Amino acid sequence: MTRQGMPSVCEKADLLIINGLVVTSQASFEAAIAITDGKIVAFGDVSTLPQAKEILDVAGLAILPGAIDVHVHFRDPGYTHKEDWESGTAAAAFGGVTTVFDMPNTIPTVATPDVLAQKHEIAASKAHVDYGLYAVLGEESIDHIDGLIETGIIGFKCYMGNTFGRIPSPSTGAMLELFERIAPTGMRISLHAETNSIMERRETRLRAAGKNAPLDHLASRPAVVAIEAVERAATLAEWTGARIHILHISSKDELRPLAEAKARGVEVTGETCPHYLMLSTDDYEHSRGRIRVNPPVREPDNQEPIWAALDSGVIDMIATDHAPHTAEEKDRPVIWDVDCGFPGVETQMPLMLTAVAEGRITLNHYVRLSSEAPAKAFGLYPRKGALLPGSDADLAIVDLKSRWEIDDNALHSRSKASPWHGREVRGRVIHTIVRGRFVLREGSLQPATRGTGRSVHDIQQMPPPRPRNADKTLAAVTRNAGT
Ligand code: NCD
Ligand code: ZN
Repeated sequence: MTRQGMPSVCEKADLLIINGLVVTSQASFEAAIAITDGKIVAFGDVSTLPQAKEILDVAGLAILPGAIDVHVHFRDPGYTHKEDWESGTAAAAFGGVTTVFDMPNTIPTVATPDVLAQKHEIAASKAHVDYGLYAVLGEESIDHIDGLIETGIIGFKCYMGNTFGRIPSPSTGAMLELFERIAPTGMRISLHAETNSIMERRETRLRAAGKNAPLDHLASRPAVVAIEAVERAATLAEWTGARIHILHISSKDELRPLAEAKARGVEVTGETCPHYLMLSTDDYEHSRGRIRVNPPVREPDNQEPIWAALDSGVIDMIATDHAPHTAEEKDRPVIWDVDCGFPGVETQMPLMLTAVAEGRITLNHYVRLSSEAPAKAFGLYPRKGALLPGSDADLAIVDLKSRWEIDDNALHSRSKASPWHGREVRGRVIHTIVRGRFVLREGSLQPATRGTGRSVHDIQQMPPPRPRNADKTLAAVTRNAGT
Protein backbone atom coordinates (compact mmCIF):
# COMPACT_ATOMS: atom_id res chain seq x y z
CA MET A 1 0.00 0.00 0.00
CA THR A 2 1.13 3.55 -0.67
CA ARG A 3 0.83 6.25 1.94
CA GLN A 4 -2.63 7.31 0.68
CA GLY A 5 -3.89 3.78 1.24
CA MET A 6 -4.16 3.19 -2.51
CA PRO A 7 -2.66 -0.12 -3.58
CA SER A 8 0.49 0.41 -5.58
CA VAL A 9 0.41 -0.63 -9.22
CA CYS A 10 3.10 -3.21 -8.49
CA GLU A 11 0.73 -5.33 -6.42
CA LYS A 12 -1.63 -7.75 -8.11
CA ALA A 13 -4.92 -6.12 -9.06
CA ASP A 14 -8.22 -7.87 -8.45
CA LEU A 15 -9.50 -7.34 -11.97
CA LEU A 16 -8.05 -6.12 -15.22
CA ILE A 17 -10.45 -5.10 -17.97
CA ILE A 18 -8.70 -5.15 -21.32
CA ASN A 19 -9.36 -4.13 -24.92
CA GLY A 20 -12.33 -1.85 -24.18
CA LEU A 21 -13.05 1.70 -25.28
CA VAL A 22 -12.98 3.82 -22.12
CA VAL A 23 -15.55 6.62 -22.33
CA THR A 24 -15.39 9.59 -19.96
CA SER A 25 -17.26 12.88 -20.06
CA GLN A 26 -14.24 14.37 -21.84
CA ALA A 27 -12.79 11.75 -24.14
CA SER A 28 -12.89 8.18 -25.46
CA PHE A 29 -9.71 6.13 -25.63
CA GLU A 30 -8.56 2.53 -25.70
CA ALA A 31 -7.06 1.51 -22.41
CA ALA A 32 -7.03 -1.28 -19.90
CA ILE A 33 -8.43 -0.60 -16.42
CA ALA A 34 -7.02 -2.10 -13.24
CA ILE A 35 -9.37 -2.50 -10.27
CA THR A 36 -8.43 -3.33 -6.69
CA ASP A 37 -10.55 -3.28 -3.53
CA GLY A 38 -13.52 -1.95 -5.49
CA LYS A 39 -11.65 1.06 -6.84
CA ILE A 40 -10.09 2.00 -10.13
CA VAL A 41 -6.33 2.05 -9.53
CA ALA A 42 -4.87 2.66 -12.97
CA PHE A 43 -5.52 3.04 -16.71
CA GLY A 44 -3.15 2.44 -19.53
CA ASP A 45 -1.61 0.09 -21.97
CA VAL A 46 -1.94 -3.39 -20.58
CA SER A 47 1.86 -3.78 -20.55
CA THR A 48 2.14 -0.94 -18.03
CA LEU A 49 -0.50 -2.29 -15.65
CA PRO A 50 -0.13 -4.76 -12.81
CA GLN A 51 -0.91 -8.44 -13.13
CA ALA A 52 -4.39 -9.34 -12.01
CA LYS A 53 -6.21 -12.20 -10.35
CA GLU A 54 -8.83 -11.99 -13.10
CA ILE A 55 -8.87 -10.60 -16.62
CA LEU A 56 -11.99 -9.57 -18.52
CA ASP A 57 -11.57 -9.07 -22.25
CA VAL A 58 -14.16 -6.59 -23.52
CA ALA A 59 -12.98 -6.21 -27.11
CA GLY A 60 -15.57 -4.34 -29.15
CA LEU A 61 -17.35 -2.93 -26.08
CA ALA A 62 -17.42 0.53 -24.50
CA ILE A 63 -16.75 1.11 -20.79
CA LEU A 64 -18.86 3.90 -19.31
CA PRO A 65 -19.14 5.05 -15.71
CA GLY A 66 -22.30 3.42 -14.38
CA ALA A 67 -25.35 5.66 -14.59
CA ILE A 68 -26.53 7.43 -11.45
CA ASP A 69 -30.30 7.68 -11.54
CA VAL A 70 -31.37 10.33 -9.02
CA HIS A 71 -35.09 9.57 -9.40
CA VAL A 72 -36.50 6.08 -8.90
CA HIS A 73 -39.48 4.69 -7.01
CA PHE A 74 -38.68 1.21 -5.73
CA ARG A 75 -41.96 0.98 -3.75
CA ASP A 76 -40.52 -0.93 -0.81
CA PRO A 77 -41.98 -0.96 1.81
CA GLY A 78 -45.65 -0.65 1.01
CA TYR A 79 -46.23 -1.42 -2.63
CA THR A 80 -44.06 -4.47 -3.21
CA HIS A 81 -46.53 -5.92 -5.71
CA LYS A 82 -45.28 -3.11 -8.02
CA GLU A 83 -41.55 -3.38 -7.20
CA ASP A 84 -39.18 -4.08 -4.33
CA TRP A 85 -35.54 -3.39 -3.61
CA GLU A 86 -34.52 -6.68 -5.18
CA SER A 87 -36.41 -6.33 -8.45
CA GLY A 88 -35.79 -2.59 -8.76
CA THR A 89 -32.04 -2.85 -8.30
CA ALA A 90 -31.92 -5.90 -10.60
CA ALA A 91 -33.63 -3.78 -13.27
CA ALA A 92 -31.06 -1.04 -12.58
CA ALA A 93 -28.21 -3.51 -13.12
CA PHE A 94 -29.69 -4.59 -16.45
CA GLY A 95 -29.82 -0.91 -17.36
CA GLY A 96 -26.18 -0.11 -16.52
CA VAL A 97 -27.28 1.91 -13.49
CA THR A 98 -24.93 1.51 -10.54
CA THR A 99 -26.44 4.04 -8.09
CA VAL A 100 -30.09 4.96 -7.59
CA PHE A 101 -31.79 7.54 -5.37
CA ASP A 102 -35.10 6.23 -4.09
CA MET A 103 -38.11 8.46 -3.49
CA PRO A 104 -39.96 8.66 -0.17
CA ASN A 105 -43.53 7.96 -1.37
CA THR A 106 -43.56 4.47 0.09
CA ILE A 107 -45.75 3.31 2.99
CA PRO A 108 -45.27 4.82 5.48
CA THR A 109 -43.96 8.01 3.86
CA VAL A 110 -40.29 8.56 4.72
CA ALA A 111 -40.84 11.50 7.08
CA THR A 112 -39.28 10.32 10.36
CA PRO A 113 -35.92 8.80 11.33
CA ASP A 114 -37.61 5.54 12.36
CA VAL A 115 -39.28 5.02 9.02
CA LEU A 116 -36.05 5.96 7.26
CA ALA A 117 -34.08 3.48 9.36
CA GLN A 118 -36.55 0.73 8.40
CA LYS A 119 -36.09 1.52 4.73
CA HIS A 120 -32.31 1.44 5.15
CA GLU A 121 -32.60 -2.05 6.60
CA ILE A 122 -34.75 -3.30 3.75
CA ALA A 123 -32.57 -1.73 1.07
CA ALA A 124 -29.35 -3.03 2.61
CA SER A 125 -30.72 -6.57 2.69
CA LYS A 126 -31.88 -6.65 -0.94
CA ALA A 127 -30.03 -4.12 -3.11
CA HIS A 128 -27.78 -5.24 -5.96
CA VAL A 129 -26.54 -1.68 -6.65
CA ASP A 130 -25.66 1.34 -4.51
CA TYR A 131 -28.37 3.75 -3.45
CA GLY A 132 -29.32 6.93 -1.67
CA LEU A 133 -32.62 7.48 0.13
CA TYR A 134 -34.72 10.63 0.01
CA ALA A 135 -36.79 11.91 2.92
CA VAL A 136 -39.94 13.89 2.28
CA LEU A 137 -39.92 17.62 2.97
CA GLY A 138 -43.29 18.72 4.26
CA GLU A 139 -45.36 19.41 7.36
CA GLU A 140 -44.92 15.78 8.43
CA SER A 141 -41.12 15.97 8.46
CA ILE A 142 -40.55 19.57 9.59
CA ASP A 143 -39.69 18.53 13.15
CA HIS A 144 -37.43 15.66 12.10
CA ILE A 145 -34.96 17.33 9.76
CA ASP A 146 -31.85 16.82 11.90
CA GLY A 147 -32.77 13.24 12.74
CA LEU A 148 -33.38 12.39 9.11
CA ILE A 149 -30.01 13.79 8.09
CA GLU A 150 -28.27 11.90 10.92
CA THR A 151 -29.98 8.65 9.94
CA GLY A 152 -28.72 9.04 6.38
CA ILE A 153 -30.33 10.65 3.36
CA ILE A 154 -29.09 11.80 -0.01
CA GLY A 155 -31.50 14.74 -0.16
CA PHE A 156 -35.04 15.92 0.51
CA LYS A 157 -38.02 15.56 -1.79
CA CYS A 158 -40.71 18.20 -1.81
CA TYR A 159 -44.02 17.52 -3.54
CA MET A 160 -45.42 20.83 -4.79
CA GLY A 161 -48.22 18.92 -6.44
CA ASN A 162 -50.15 15.76 -5.98
CA THR A 163 -48.91 12.61 -7.65
CA PHE A 164 -48.84 8.89 -6.86
CA GLY A 165 -49.04 8.38 -3.09
CA ARG A 166 -51.05 11.58 -2.56
CA ILE A 167 -48.45 13.17 -0.34
CA PRO A 168 -49.86 16.56 0.66
CA SER A 169 -48.07 19.54 -0.89
CA PRO A 170 -46.88 22.19 1.55
CA SER A 171 -48.28 25.71 1.27
CA THR A 172 -45.89 28.35 -0.03
CA GLY A 173 -45.53 29.56 3.56
CA ALA A 174 -44.58 26.11 4.76
CA MET A 175 -42.19 25.70 1.83
CA LEU A 176 -40.40 28.91 2.76
CA GLU A 177 -39.97 27.75 6.34
CA LEU A 178 -38.77 24.32 5.15
CA PHE A 179 -36.28 25.89 2.74
CA GLU A 180 -35.05 28.19 5.56
CA ARG A 181 -34.34 25.13 7.65
CA ILE A 182 -32.64 23.11 4.92
CA ALA A 183 -30.46 25.95 3.56
CA PRO A 184 -27.89 25.83 6.41
CA THR A 185 -27.56 22.06 6.08
CA GLY A 186 -26.37 22.29 2.47
CA MET A 187 -28.58 19.36 1.43
CA ARG A 188 -30.29 19.53 -1.95
CA ILE A 189 -34.10 19.64 -2.18
CA SER A 190 -35.54 17.81 -5.18
CA LEU A 191 -38.86 19.21 -6.29
CA HIS A 192 -41.87 17.72 -7.96
CA ALA A 193 -42.56 21.12 -9.51
CA GLU A 194 -46.24 21.11 -10.44
CA THR A 195 -48.60 23.51 -8.70
CA ASN A 196 -51.31 21.59 -6.95
CA SER A 197 -54.08 24.16 -6.80
CA ILE A 198 -54.08 24.67 -10.57
CA MET A 199 -54.23 21.03 -11.55
CA GLU A 200 -56.62 19.95 -8.83
CA ARG A 201 -59.13 22.55 -9.95
CA ARG A 202 -58.75 21.64 -13.60
CA GLU A 203 -59.05 17.93 -12.94
CA THR A 204 -62.27 18.50 -10.98
CA ARG A 205 -63.72 20.53 -13.87
CA LEU A 206 -62.65 17.97 -16.47
CA ARG A 207 -64.17 15.11 -14.50
CA ALA A 208 -67.42 17.05 -14.03
CA ALA A 209 -67.52 17.58 -17.80
CA GLY A 210 -67.28 13.81 -18.29
CA LYS A 211 -63.78 13.96 -19.77
CA ASN A 212 -61.85 10.78 -19.06
CA ALA A 213 -59.62 10.00 -22.07
CA PRO A 214 -55.82 9.68 -21.87
CA LEU A 215 -55.23 13.18 -23.28
CA ASP A 216 -57.49 14.68 -20.60
CA HIS A 217 -54.67 13.94 -18.16
CA LEU A 218 -52.51 16.38 -20.12
CA ALA A 219 -55.38 18.88 -20.21
CA SER A 220 -55.46 18.83 -16.41
CA ARG A 221 -51.76 19.68 -16.20
CA PRO A 222 -50.86 22.22 -18.91
CA ALA A 223 -47.29 23.54 -18.83
CA VAL A 224 -48.29 26.60 -16.79
CA VAL A 225 -48.53 24.19 -13.85
CA ALA A 226 -44.80 23.54 -14.16
CA ILE A 227 -43.79 27.09 -15.10
CA GLU A 228 -45.48 28.52 -12.01
CA ALA A 229 -43.96 25.90 -9.74
CA VAL A 230 -40.40 26.25 -11.07
CA GLU A 231 -40.62 30.02 -10.81
CA ARG A 232 -41.91 29.88 -7.22
CA ALA A 233 -39.40 27.26 -6.10
CA ALA A 234 -36.58 29.30 -7.62
CA THR A 235 -37.77 32.42 -5.80
CA LEU A 236 -37.80 30.61 -2.46
CA ALA A 237 -34.40 29.01 -3.14
CA GLU A 238 -32.93 32.37 -4.07
CA TRP A 239 -34.29 34.02 -0.93
CA THR A 240 -33.14 31.29 1.45
CA GLY A 241 -29.99 30.07 -0.33
CA ALA A 242 -31.35 26.53 -0.36
CA ARG A 243 -30.05 24.21 -3.08
CA ILE A 244 -32.75 22.76 -5.29
CA HIS A 245 -33.14 20.24 -8.07
CA ILE A 246 -36.05 20.36 -10.52
CA LEU A 247 -37.23 16.83 -11.22
CA HIS A 248 -38.68 15.57 -14.51
CA ILE A 249 -38.64 18.70 -16.70
CA SER A 250 -41.39 18.08 -19.23
CA SER A 251 -41.99 21.32 -21.12
CA LYS A 252 -40.12 23.89 -23.16
CA ASP A 253 -41.86 26.59 -21.14
CA GLU A 254 -40.32 25.80 -17.74
CA LEU A 255 -36.85 26.20 -19.26
CA ARG A 256 -37.17 29.97 -19.12
CA PRO A 257 -37.63 30.27 -15.32
CA LEU A 258 -34.96 27.60 -14.85
CA ALA A 259 -32.43 29.39 -17.09
CA GLU A 260 -33.22 32.74 -15.47
CA ALA A 261 -32.73 31.29 -11.99
CA LYS A 262 -29.39 29.82 -13.00
CA ALA A 263 -28.35 33.17 -14.47
CA ARG A 264 -29.20 34.86 -11.16
CA GLY A 265 -26.95 32.43 -9.33
CA VAL A 266 -29.64 30.29 -7.72
CA GLU A 267 -28.18 26.88 -6.86
CA VAL A 268 -30.53 24.90 -9.02
CA THR A 269 -30.03 21.81 -11.14
CA GLY A 270 -32.53 20.14 -13.45
CA GLU A 271 -33.24 16.72 -14.87
CA THR A 272 -35.31 15.47 -17.73
CA CYS A 273 -36.27 11.89 -18.61
CA PRO A 274 -36.20 9.93 -21.86
CA HIS A 275 -40.00 10.09 -22.16
CA TYR A 276 -39.99 13.88 -22.43
CA LEU A 277 -37.30 13.70 -25.13
CA MET A 278 -38.73 10.84 -27.17
CA LEU A 279 -42.50 10.56 -26.58
CA SER A 280 -45.24 13.07 -27.31
CA THR A 281 -49.00 13.48 -27.64
CA ASP A 282 -48.64 11.36 -30.80
CA ASP A 283 -48.07 8.34 -28.53
CA TYR A 284 -51.22 8.63 -26.41
CA GLU A 285 -53.54 6.81 -28.76
CA HIS A 286 -51.59 3.55 -28.89
CA SER A 287 -50.14 3.70 -25.34
CA ARG A 288 -53.43 4.67 -23.64
CA GLY A 289 -53.09 4.63 -19.83
CA ARG A 290 -49.56 3.28 -20.04
CA ILE A 291 -48.28 6.73 -20.94
CA ARG A 292 -50.00 8.45 -18.00
CA VAL A 293 -47.27 10.06 -15.93
CA ASN A 294 -46.75 13.19 -13.85
CA PRO A 295 -45.85 15.61 -15.31
CA PRO A 296 -47.53 14.48 -18.52
CA VAL A 297 -45.84 13.70 -21.81
CA ARG A 298 -46.58 16.83 -23.87
CA GLU A 299 -46.94 18.14 -27.43
CA PRO A 300 -44.12 17.26 -29.89
CA ASP A 301 -42.81 20.84 -30.05
CA ASN A 302 -41.44 20.46 -26.52
CA GLN A 303 -38.84 17.89 -27.53
CA GLU A 304 -36.36 19.98 -29.48
CA PRO A 305 -36.10 22.75 -26.85
CA ILE A 306 -35.51 20.12 -24.13
CA TRP A 307 -32.73 18.55 -26.20
CA ALA A 308 -31.31 22.03 -26.74
CA ALA A 309 -31.38 22.64 -22.98
CA LEU A 310 -29.28 19.51 -22.50
CA ASP A 311 -26.80 20.93 -25.01
CA SER A 312 -26.68 24.35 -23.37
CA GLY A 313 -26.50 23.07 -19.79
CA VAL A 314 -29.82 24.54 -18.67
CA ILE A 315 -30.82 20.93 -17.94
CA ASP A 316 -28.01 19.14 -16.12
CA MET A 317 -28.84 15.47 -16.18
CA ILE A 318 -30.94 12.51 -17.27
CA ALA A 319 -32.95 10.59 -14.69
CA THR A 320 -35.79 8.16 -15.23
CA ASP A 321 -38.55 8.68 -12.66
CA HIS A 322 -38.77 4.88 -12.71
CA ALA A 323 -42.37 4.56 -11.46
CA PRO A 324 -43.52 0.94 -11.73
CA HIS A 325 -47.17 -0.15 -11.60
CA THR A 326 -48.85 -3.40 -12.66
CA ALA A 327 -50.48 -3.82 -16.07
CA GLU A 328 -53.89 -3.92 -14.37
CA GLU A 329 -53.17 -0.58 -12.65
CA LYS A 330 -52.12 0.97 -15.99
CA ASP A 331 -54.81 -0.42 -18.30
CA ARG A 332 -57.96 0.91 -16.60
CA PRO A 333 -60.44 2.49 -19.03
CA VAL A 334 -60.99 5.79 -17.18
CA ILE A 335 -57.76 7.80 -17.25
CA TRP A 336 -58.28 9.21 -13.75
CA ASP A 337 -58.22 5.65 -12.36
CA VAL A 338 -54.86 4.81 -13.94
CA ASP A 339 -51.80 4.94 -11.66
CA CYS A 340 -49.28 7.53 -12.87
CA GLY A 341 -45.80 6.58 -14.03
CA PHE A 342 -44.04 3.64 -15.69
CA PRO A 343 -40.75 1.76 -15.39
CA GLY A 344 -37.62 3.36 -16.86
CA VAL A 345 -34.46 2.51 -14.93
CA GLU A 346 -33.69 -0.37 -17.27
CA THR A 347 -34.39 1.38 -20.58
CA GLN A 348 -32.78 4.80 -20.07
CA MET A 349 -29.32 3.78 -21.24
CA PRO A 350 -30.35 1.96 -24.43
CA LEU A 351 -32.79 4.76 -25.31
CA MET A 352 -30.15 7.44 -24.81
CA LEU A 353 -27.47 5.37 -26.57
CA THR A 354 -29.87 5.19 -29.52
CA ALA A 355 -29.91 8.99 -29.54
CA VAL A 356 -26.10 8.85 -29.48
CA ALA A 357 -26.10 6.43 -32.44
CA GLU A 358 -28.42 8.80 -34.29
CA GLY A 359 -25.99 11.67 -33.68
CA ARG A 360 -28.31 13.62 -31.37
CA ILE A 361 -25.71 13.85 -28.58
CA THR A 362 -22.15 12.61 -28.20
CA LEU A 363 -21.29 9.61 -26.09
CA ASN A 364 -19.11 11.80 -23.88
CA HIS A 365 -21.98 14.21 -23.32
CA TYR A 366 -24.20 11.28 -22.43
CA VAL A 367 -21.69 10.24 -19.75
CA ARG A 368 -21.83 13.74 -18.32
CA LEU A 369 -25.65 13.73 -18.25
CA SER A 370 -26.12 10.22 -16.86
CA SER A 371 -23.27 9.96 -14.40
CA GLU A 372 -20.95 12.91 -13.84
CA ALA A 373 -23.58 15.63 -13.39
CA PRO A 374 -25.73 13.67 -10.91
CA ALA A 375 -22.62 12.78 -8.87
CA LYS A 376 -21.58 16.43 -8.78
CA ALA A 377 -25.01 17.76 -7.87
CA PHE A 378 -25.35 15.39 -4.92
CA GLY A 379 -21.81 15.52 -3.57
CA LEU A 380 -20.60 12.11 -4.72
CA TYR A 381 -18.04 13.23 -7.31
CA PRO A 382 -15.32 12.01 -8.00
CA ARG A 383 -15.85 8.97 -5.81
CA LYS A 384 -18.77 8.20 -8.12
CA GLY A 385 -19.62 9.53 -11.58
CA ALA A 386 -16.04 9.40 -12.83
CA LEU A 387 -13.53 7.03 -14.36
CA LEU A 388 -10.47 8.22 -12.46
CA PRO A 389 -7.86 6.49 -10.34
CA GLY A 390 -9.41 6.39 -6.88
CA SER A 391 -13.01 6.40 -8.09
CA ASP A 392 -15.32 3.53 -7.19
CA ALA A 393 -15.18 0.95 -9.98
CA ASP A 394 -18.83 1.44 -10.99
CA LEU A 395 -18.99 0.53 -14.66
CA ALA A 396 -21.49 -0.08 -17.42
CA ILE A 397 -19.86 -2.07 -20.20
CA VAL A 398 -21.98 -1.80 -23.31
CA ASP A 399 -22.25 -3.03 -26.86
CA LEU A 400 -23.00 0.16 -28.76
CA LYS A 401 -23.88 -1.69 -31.96
CA SER A 402 -26.39 -4.21 -30.64
CA ARG A 403 -29.89 -3.59 -32.03
CA TRP A 404 -32.91 -4.92 -30.18
CA GLU A 405 -36.52 -4.19 -29.40
CA ILE A 406 -37.83 -3.26 -25.97
CA ASP A 407 -40.30 -5.87 -24.78
CA ASP A 408 -42.25 -5.02 -21.64
CA ASN A 409 -42.51 -8.70 -20.75
CA ALA A 410 -38.73 -9.04 -20.74
CA LEU A 411 -38.22 -6.16 -18.29
CA HIS A 412 -36.72 -7.17 -14.96
CA SER A 413 -38.82 -4.66 -13.09
CA ARG A 414 -41.90 -6.20 -11.55
CA SER A 415 -43.81 -3.75 -13.73
CA LYS A 416 -44.37 -5.00 -17.27
CA ALA A 417 -46.26 -1.99 -18.58
CA SER A 418 -44.41 0.83 -20.31
CA PRO A 419 -44.99 3.06 -23.32
CA TRP A 420 -41.65 1.84 -24.75
CA HIS A 421 -42.94 -1.60 -25.70
CA GLY A 422 -41.94 -2.45 -29.27
CA ARG A 423 -39.41 0.35 -29.60
CA GLU A 424 -36.18 -0.37 -31.51
CA VAL A 425 -33.03 0.63 -29.66
CA ARG A 426 -29.32 0.49 -30.29
CA GLY A 427 -26.97 -0.28 -27.39
CA ARG A 428 -27.06 -3.09 -24.87
CA VAL A 429 -25.58 -3.42 -21.41
CA ILE A 430 -23.40 -6.54 -21.21
CA HIS A 431 -21.68 -6.16 -17.82
CA THR A 432 -22.52 -3.95 -14.85
CA ILE A 433 -19.89 -3.65 -12.16
CA VAL A 434 -20.48 -2.00 -8.76
CA ARG A 435 -17.41 -1.25 -6.66
CA GLY A 436 -15.44 -3.82 -8.62
CA ARG A 437 -18.07 -6.56 -8.27
CA PHE A 438 -19.98 -8.02 -11.24
CA VAL A 439 -23.69 -7.50 -10.72
CA LEU A 440 -24.48 -8.23 -14.36
CA ARG A 441 -22.05 -10.52 -16.18
CA GLU A 442 -22.46 -11.44 -19.85
CA GLY A 443 -26.04 -10.21 -19.55
CA SER A 444 -26.85 -12.39 -16.51
CA LEU A 445 -27.72 -11.06 -13.09
CA GLN A 446 -25.40 -12.46 -10.41
CA PRO A 447 -27.89 -13.50 -7.69
CA ALA A 448 -25.20 -13.52 -5.01
CA THR A 449 -24.97 -9.74 -5.23
CA ARG A 450 -28.36 -9.33 -3.58
CA GLY A 451 -27.73 -7.31 -0.42
CA THR A 452 -24.32 -6.02 -1.52
CA GLY A 453 -25.54 -2.55 -2.52
CA ARG A 454 -24.61 0.18 -0.02
CA SER A 455 -26.08 3.54 0.90
CA VAL A 456 -23.96 6.40 -0.44
CA HIS A 457 -25.05 8.96 2.15
CA ASP A 458 -21.87 8.48 4.17
CA ILE A 459 -19.62 9.33 1.23
CA GLN A 460 -21.65 12.43 0.32
CA GLN A 461 -19.77 15.72 0.59
CA MET A 462 -21.86 18.72 -0.35
CA PRO A 463 -20.07 22.05 -0.78
CA PRO A 464 -20.36 24.48 2.15
CA PRO A 465 -23.92 25.82 2.54
CA ARG A 466 -24.69 29.41 1.60
CA PRO A 467 -27.85 30.38 3.47
CA ARG A 468 -29.26 33.84 2.73
CA ASN A 469 -31.55 36.16 4.68
CA ALA A 470 -30.71 34.18 7.80
CA ASP A 471 -31.74 37.15 9.97
CA LYS A 472 -35.26 37.03 8.49
CA THR A 473 -36.05 33.35 8.87
CA LEU A 474 -39.08 32.38 10.90
CA ALA A 475 -36.73 30.87 13.49
CA ALA A 476 -34.76 34.14 13.75
CA VAL A 477 -37.73 36.49 13.99
CA THR A 478 -39.62 34.38 16.52
CA ARG A 479 -36.46 34.15 18.61
CA ASN A 480 -36.09 37.92 18.52
CA ALA A 481 -39.78 38.65 19.17
CA GLY A 482 -40.38 40.71 22.32
CA THR A 483 -36.70 41.34 23.02
C1 NCD B 1 -44.49 8.76 -9.53
C2 NCD B 1 -44.85 7.50 -8.76
O1 NCD B 1 -45.57 6.66 -9.31
O2 NCD B 1 -44.40 7.31 -7.62
N1 NCD B 1 -45.41 8.89 -10.61
C3 NCD B 1 -45.28 9.67 -11.70
O3 NCD B 1 -46.24 9.78 -12.46
N2 NCD B 1 -44.16 10.30 -11.98
C4 NCD B 1 -44.48 9.94 -8.62
C5 NCD B 1 -43.76 11.14 -9.18
O4 NCD B 1 -42.54 11.12 -9.38
O5 NCD B 1 -44.40 12.15 -9.43
ZN1 ZN C 1 -42.56 13.53 -9.38
